[in-house]
Amino acid sequence: MPLELSDSARSLLRLRYLRRDEEGRIIETEEELFWRVARAVAAAEDAFPRGPRSAEIAEKFYELMTTLRFLPNTPALINAGTQLGQLFACFVIPVPDSLDGIFGAVRDAAKIQQTGGGTGFSFSHLRPRGDLVRSTRRPSSGAVSFIRIFDVASDVIATESVRGGANMAVLRCDHPDVREFIDAKRNPALFSRFNFSVLVTDDFLRAAIERREIALINPRTGLPFAQANAGELFDAMVDAAWEVGDPGLLFYDRIQRDNAVPALGPLEATNPCGEVPLHPWEACVLGSLNLRAFIVERGDRAFLDEAGLQESARLALRFLDNMVEVSRYPKVEIETICRANRKVGLGIMGFADLLLALRIPYGSDESVAVADRVMGLVQAAAVEASRRLAEERGPFPNFPISRYAARGEPPRRNATVTTVAPTGSISIIAGCSSGIEPLYALAYRHVGEFVGIVEPHPLLLRELSRIGKYDPALLHEIEVTGRIGHRTDLPEELRRLFRVATEISPEEHIRVQAAVQRHVENAVSKTINLPYEATRDDVRRAFLLAHELGCKGVTVYREGAPRGQVLQVLGHC
Ligand code: CDP
Repeated sequence: MPLELSDSARSLLRLRYLRRDEEGRIIETEEELFWRVARAVAAAEDAFPRGPRSAEIAEKFYELMTTLRFLPNTPALINAGTQLGQLFACFVIPVPDSLDGIFGAVRDAAKIQQTGGGTGFSFSHLRPRGDLVRSTRRPSSGAVSFIRIFDVASDVIATESVRGGANMAVLRCDHPDVREFIDAKRNPALFSRFNFSVLVTDDFLRAAIERREIALINPRTGLPFAQANAGELFDAMVDAAWEVGDPGLLFYDRIQRDNAVPALGPLEATNPCGEVPLHPWEACVLGSLNLRAFIVERGDRAFLDEAGLQESARLALRFLDNMVEVSRYPKVEIETICRANRKVGLGIMGFADLLLALRIPYGSDESVAVADRVMGLVQAAAVEASRRLAEERGPFPNFPISRYAARGEPPRRNATVTTVAPTGSISIIAGCSSGIEPLYALAYRHVGEFVGIVEPHPLLLRELSRIGKYDPALLHEIEVTGRIGHRTDLPEELRRLFRVATEISPEEHIRVQAAVQRHVENAVSKTINLPYEATRDDVRRAFLLAHELGCKGVTVYREGAPRGQVLQVLGHC
């Protein structure tokens, strides 16, 4: 079967994925890329005499990818079967409270980013600004000042890396530098390679609502260092997020409730986009099922092929477990914990495409039910596949100390099986909407490293012709404004179906995220997009609702905020 890829997919593959020789000339075709990945990942089979042979599995993996039903994360597509061989997208690196420790972490992060992996750090162990540095008897410059070193290093190595470095900085809500951390990204010249998230506890949120004073603790001594009003700190988080989109929140207690191996200590930070909470030195491989590839059309009705989706999910889980097996590791500490926990994150993309095909508006009760149903199917298939692999290959080595064993569940091969990633690049390759996001706009462009225009959705064009509204003036307007919500001459049903990210209320966004999170063992990457007119109170309500509905974190982005946007409506350039 010929490989069907869009023009955008082909140009993105040429830009970043296809192998090159020493002079930078492309030396493989798209088909060869998928064979390289399929064979390299299938090679893991040969280590397990009780399983099938690698040649047979390589063919299945090749078909799974080239029918665009599933793609692994970018580092796997670029590095599998090459000398780099590093297949993981998500890492958490510990940052200890010493100069040696901090600069060691900078070096480790640089090496990881060179291979296309993203890094997250908790800066909560660093002594606060003003605390004494014993060797020099001078005050420390504080946690935030050190984040700048990571940011600059990331920027410098970006040019020689397989893609621009991405980072997550995490700080606990009771760290004395939390206020400086909250406001850090207000300066647009700093921290361009970082997302910032405050790790908030349930106790903190209660104190914030009651506007109580709390103690800020010096991690070096474990003793109170300063006091702050939790209500004012929360106001500051809301205000900065409203203004610049950072910080996001991570909900500490909710995250720890799903910690598969609590004996290893708490999950301390996440990867750059927030979808994988990890232990220090831990990493996770990701892969996503493209829901668009499972839509079956019968007459003018569409269905989701649920059995097909689950069958692919089981094979995809095997693919991800194989990745843990064959990947190269940047450091022995990382290899040790990754092999002991074998965390993988299988997720979905093309969710908005599925809803459009089913004629269900994003954010409606029906869409929440679809989110629940679809992710439930993937989660169930992934757990089933991980249990079967445990029979074939043995459970993950930390299984006996995991909460699964404590609950008397059957052995499984992986400490976690599901995640929803942003799928920023692989959704372009697969030609579907990204992750579980609604359409960003009806037509838009990618700016930054990859430049491409996303044409109006084919279903919209079909609907417009059906009702006799397919005219050049309207199409031009769609390209300029990216939406049709304001066109009262178009049928209400159509305008509701094709609402874009900023036309969907924060509550609706969050209800979809929460429904998906119910069936995801790691976390869910999702941006709560707000229109420019949104108020600080909208942000506050979104933060509290996300917590109430059991999300593990929340990120808002108000239209027009200065954060590095990679998507842009054409009329806005
Ligand atoms: O689509 P793709 O596999 O390229 O990645 P994604 O789903 O958009 O992002 C998944 C994860 O990859 C992020 O959370 C980061 O950990 C990492 N990433 C990165 O390190 N650098 C980027 N420029 C993009 C993603």
